[in-house]
Amino acid sequence: MNTKCFDVIIVGTGAAGLTVALELANKELSEAMPDSAQLTDQPAIALISKGPIHEGSTLYAQGGIAAVLDEDNDSIDFHIEDTLNAGAGLCHKESVKFTIEHSKEAIQWVIDKGVKFSREDNSNDYHLTREGGHSHRRVIHAADATGKALSDGLLTQVKQCPNIRLFEHHMAVDLILSADNSKSKTSKQCIGIYLLNTHNNQVTEVPAKFTILATGGASKVYLYTSNPDSSTGDGIAMAWRAGCRVANMEFNQFHPTCLYHPKAKSFLISEALRGEGAKLKLPDGTPFMHKFDKRGELAPRDIVAQAIDYEMKRTGSDFVYLDITHQSPEFIKDHFPTIYKRCLSFGIDITTEPIPVVPAAHYTCGGIMTDLDGQTDISNLYAIGETAFTGLHGANRMASNSLLECLVFGKAAAEKIKAELPCYECEPLLPPWDDSRVTGSEEGVVVTHNWDELRRFMWNYVGIVRKNKRLLLARQRIKLLQREIDDYYRQYLINSDLIELRNLATVAELIINSAMHRKESRGLHYTLDYPYKDDQKFLKDTILVPDNYQ
Ligand code: FAD
Ligand code: SIN
Repeated sequence: MNTKCFDVIIVGTGAAGLTVALELANKELSEAMPDSAQLTDQPAIALISKGPIHEGSTLYAQGGIAAVLDEDNDSIDFHIEDTLNAGAGLCHKESVKFTIEHSKEAIQWVIDKGVKFSREDNSNDYHLTREGGHSHRRVIHAADATGKALSDGLLTQVKQCPNIRLFEHHMAVDLILSADNSKSKTSKQCIGIYLLNTHNNQVTEVPAKFTILATGGASKVYLYTSNPDSSTGDGIAMAWRAGCRVANMEFNQFHPTCLYHPKAKSFLISEALRGEGAKLKLPDGTPFMHKFDKRGELAPRDIVAQAIDYEMKRTGSDFVYLDITHQSPEFIKDHFPTIYKRCLSFGIDITTEPIPVVPAAHYTCGGIMTDLDGQTDISNLYAIGETAFTGLHGANRMASNSLLECLVFGKAAAEKIKAELPCYECEPLLPPWDDSRVTGSEEGVVVTHNWDELRRFMWNYVGIVRKNKRLLLARQRIKLLQREIDDYYRQYLINSDLIELRNLATVAELIINSAMHRKESRGLHYTLDYPYKDDQKFLKDTILVPDNYQ
């Protein structure tokens, strides 16, 4: 059964999804909508999260949001220059300029929504911290739990909007397309989604005039990651299957410092510690970052993660240390309360001893190609936040530019959609989900086994340091796995684990193919076979085009 038609479906309740939802839900929407009278019994916006509503990378963001707020010392030009430098030649200048020019306004919007940021001691000014690649202090934050403050603040507002209907524990499975008659014969338009209720595994067709993918990144494709379980690249895989191009998937960012402890699953130690002077050291206490980059611990992330990986392999150590004991215990507890408490729960007192850390997969720089409004290759389909490729990050994202991108592009997409809403009618009857030829599975072990295998070979073969031989092995494995997963998908009733596995396999294939294509080392893509940059041949994006792209 189709549900009633929504004006907009937003898949994802992180910073990107919440921003676009709030911007669409404001009163201008009802003015823009021809059928606003129907709002009384039919919310215009469906906001969907596959898990609990607050779950996603946004909730765990620590360091903060980059923006030019100290205009006496910093400038938009400096922020642009730092972003371009970190991106190693591949940032799109118009996207960088667009994002950073809107940074101050985006932060003010968040503050107006009630989000509280840390202030300087004895002053009303906001405290700005530093992170890798930033030449100035420009990262506004809520101690070391910026994501929680942001998510809580925006969610409080969303819950007060009568025209936003929340679907928790509902998972978008695939996009539904029709021919776009307003354009060329072959153009496609997104007219809704197939939605899985993860409690009862029922699939419903949900029609909408516009669909927005705000599904976050894909770092769960790697065995070790700072990301929550939700980062399975669903949006990228769905858009790819529907016929959208994706770009720069080889640039997966590894955060240099995640806590190394057998019981700590994916706990990040914020780069802001290094911004406040923390030093990286070998297990014998020797600092080493000065050997790799004159910016030391505050070099961009690709450089720091590769240096740590190199030193771990050279010394045979399972970790390196991050030492912030030069700061007073009061400073540490005040600025990094979450990290202090979490480490203490594992018996590590960071005010008196160094923290064992390792790199882990953290951020997907590539994604679904969009323009500066978040519009994808398919009409009425938008992508924003980590799932999108806007050209902002190039070959390496600079710290704290991600939440900024979510806010700026969330607002831009909302503006564009509001203007276009009156031009579209709903397609009320969608092709029904057909599960008449599948049965329940008693072979769930196939799914868990393939999850583990995929994430392990991606870590070992397509990780921080790459080689042709390992990439080839990974490609062979992924082909086999995809065949198994496709067979399984065709035979059995779906559930969220199977959908995520299928999506992870697609994303893994895109990463491997992109990495094999780039025969040079640049930013986050480092390969022993081609250890240098090749500007002659590779100063360009890796754009993958699906067979059904029109
Ligand atoms: P997310 O916040 O990941 O939200 C994705 C949403 O999509 C979730 O609601 C999820 O349930 C939903 N979803 C996914 N697939 C489906 C589906 N198929 N159906 C339905 N729902 C679906 N960046 C910064 O700028 N500053 C920082 O300080 C910072 N710190 C970080 C710390 C950590 C530990 C991590 C992991 C990341 C950090 N980042 C930081 C990166 C940043 O947090 C993320 O890039 C950003 O939050 C992504 O927001 P998003 O809205 O795109 O996605
Ligand atoms: C951190 O706090 O180190 C994460 C910042 C980011 O990923 O932008």
